[in-house]
Amino acid sequence: MEKALIRNGEIGDPMNRVDGRLKVTGAATYSGEYELPNLVYAVLVTSTIAKGRIKSIDTKQAERAPGVLAVISHLNSPKVPGFAQHDHPTEPATGGQPLRVFNSDRIYSNGQPIAVVMADTFERALYAASLVKAQYDKEQHQTDFKANTGRAVVPSQAKKNPSMADYTRGQADAYKTAAIKLEEEYVMPTEVHNPMELQTIIAHWEAADKLTVYDKTQAVKGTQKAFAEDWDIPVENVKVITKFVGGAFGNGLHTWPHETAAIIAAKKVNRPVKLMLTREQMFFMVGYRPYTWQKIGMSATADGKLTGITHEAMGQTSSYEEFTESTVQQSKMMYASPNVTTRYRILPLDVSTPIWMRGPGEATGAFALESAMDEMAFALNLDPLEFRLLNYTETDPEKNLPWSTKYLKECLEMGAEHIGWNKRSMKPGAVRAGEWLVGYGMGVGTFGANQRMAQARARLLTDGAVLIQSATTDIGPGTGTAMTQIAADTLGMPPEKIIFQLGDSAFPHSPSQGGSSTVSSVGSAVRAACIALKQKLQELGGTAFSTAKPEDIVIKDGQISLAGDASAKVVYADLLKEQNMPEVEVMVEAKPDEERKNYSMYSFSVHFVEVHVHPVTGVVRVNKIVSCADAGTIVNEKTAGNQMIGGAVGGIGMALMEEAVIDHRFGRYVTKDLAEYHVPVHADIPAVKVFFVNKPDFHVNPMGTKGIGEIALIGMAPAVANAVFNATGKRIRHLPITPDKLI
Ligand code: MOS
Repeated sequence: MEKALIRNGEIGDPMNRVDGRLKVTGAATYSGEYELPNLVYAVLVTSTIAKGRIKSIDTKQAERAPGVLAVISHLNSPKVPGFAQHDHPTEPATGGQPLRVFNSDRIYSNGQPIAVVMADTFERALYAASLVKAQYDKEQHQTDFKANTGRAVVPSQAKKNPSMADYTRGQADAYKTAAIKLEEEYVMPTEVHNPMELQTIIAHWEAADKLTVYDKTQAVKGTQKAFAEDWDIPVENVKVITKFVGGAFGNGLHTWPHETAAIIAAKKVNRPVKLMLTREQMFFMVGYRPYTWQKIGMSATADGKLTGITHEAMGQTSSYEEFTESTVQQSKMMYASPNVTTRYRILPLDVSTPIWMRGPGEATGAFALESAMDEMAFALNLDPLEFRLLNYTETDPEKNLPWSTKYLKECLEMGAEHIGWNKRSMKPGAVRAGEWLVGYGMGVGTFGANQRMAQARARLLTDGAVLIQSATTDIGPGTGTAMTQIAADTLGMPPEKIIFQLGDSAFPHSPSQGGSSTVSSVGSAVRAACIALKQKLQELGGTAFSTAKPEDIVIKDGQISLAGDASAKVVYADLLKEQNMPEVEVMVEAKPDEERKNYSMYSFSVHFVEVHVHPVTGVVRVNKIVSCADAGTIVNEKTAGNQMIGGAVGGIGMALMEEAVIDHRFGRYVTKDLAEYHVPVHADIPAVKVFFVNKPDFHVNPMGTKGIGEIALIGMAPAVANAVFNATGKRIRHLPITPDKLI
């Protein structure tokens, strides 16, 4: 691949967010904040059983309540044409089918929507929803993971997708016959994304076959396609608007029942309908990180060379949809073990469908693998950092390919220095700070450096600004800011002259914002669009420009000129007049390069933490965090650093607090708000120091970026767990590490 054309200082600058002012002043419009005339408010009524059928549903009282326009259940719902087709395609492509809301009397999980009430105010809809009474024919539900492990299956996707199938390198289960071995089980509880912004949709049928939604999603194009298929209307008849997202972490990577419920409701009353989930509904309607059981078997030689890793994982899914994630991936490629076995299973339960949650399966898998690495290092009396270096691999042992780039060693060195790893004692509990036990731990993370097809349009406006559009979203990382910098850098223009627009399905195609791939995918399209714009201006500029290189084209002060050639100069307004064009515009598509196939491409991270544990109360304070990442080129040091800090916060939550709990008598979550489901607050978070290797990887894409979002979190929870062990000698293999487990 060619290298980035111009490096005028824009890429890498810790530029402030282009939409920061809008966000902090409340001027940013989130999905629930559009003022539509005749807006109606909808509130969902949800099932109180986990499995069975609705015997009867009484909506009369609700219908008579003040302000109520209609109540919809499976008895009177307008039919969704796409629900008749069995193989309803979805984004993401999961096996099975998303819940078909109000399509039958069947109940698949506790909290499933059974009715929606519409009223002229939210409060009246909420009150009327409380008046809907349902009776059920209950069936025995299964929500208890531990009691049902025997029902786990190989995901059906494994037939088509080898990464989901069982994997063996060398000898299967080699650890079993080794002299030095360990075999331990690890549990990741269900975690819930819990973004600040509640999932909200405003659905508006502008005509019988024309739908507009203002929707919280990470995929405007994917959502557009899903709704077009649901309603059997042309894709271009569906408009999805998502200008701002108040955090998502993965739960906007799927379309959910509440969205279709609102669209059905809007159809019924023929008015725009706004539906905002309650915080409680966020626990069971928009996905979650699935409860996952894992077992690691590991063996090594006395001098610290791994001889075998076996990684088994079993994750929860729903009864109607097959959710999978790459839980065992890191065990296949991170260490130079000659023998590796992985087995991945899913366990269908009577629950709603999980979805990717930041760092998805890899974060779960890294908790098991990186904890086991620490356990093995301890058993061998080796420093865990040294143990990792002893098993470092310079090529991908899974794919037998060279890494496109791998600067994990640099990360390990930087991190060790900045945390003060030399203060760590091999002996647990040996370091104290007053009455607190002090421990140091580390955890390594990795995630594929993916790129997906994306398009972008670039237009040189008559006022001298360049307008760029692509249908991506920004769930928080600062996508608009990064794209502005990439455009400014490529065009050689100040960022103030770039207008980047996203979050509208009418814009050129972008993939969903997920899997740490937006800068790689959309950024490549934006860059290509800027180059194409210069080429187009060069062509239109005529002979004076004919031998120039696109990077020498200068767009400034209403003129197109050539760097280093004063004679080549065209006034843009004259050019447009001459060409009889309103403005010069280009549209491009950027696709992953074929050359990518010759390399194995990953971002890498390592997290070092210092914890203080109180020996009497078991309270764990994370005192210091150093996160180091090899994520290729860093487009914006500030927003990239923000992502790393956010990942560290998520990792502390995962390690110490987060756990969604089901009362299995009812198959219903008892954690239903942020008082019971604990997330870290400011007082739980120390200063997080972030370091980037910041070396480009031009095999991945022409900007050299590899992706940050996931590796910010992956490896953080085991780093904390390992530090807790170093402080206390107590190995906690079932997250979260709450004080009761330490006393
Ligand atoms: Mo993320 S789990 O790719 O939103």
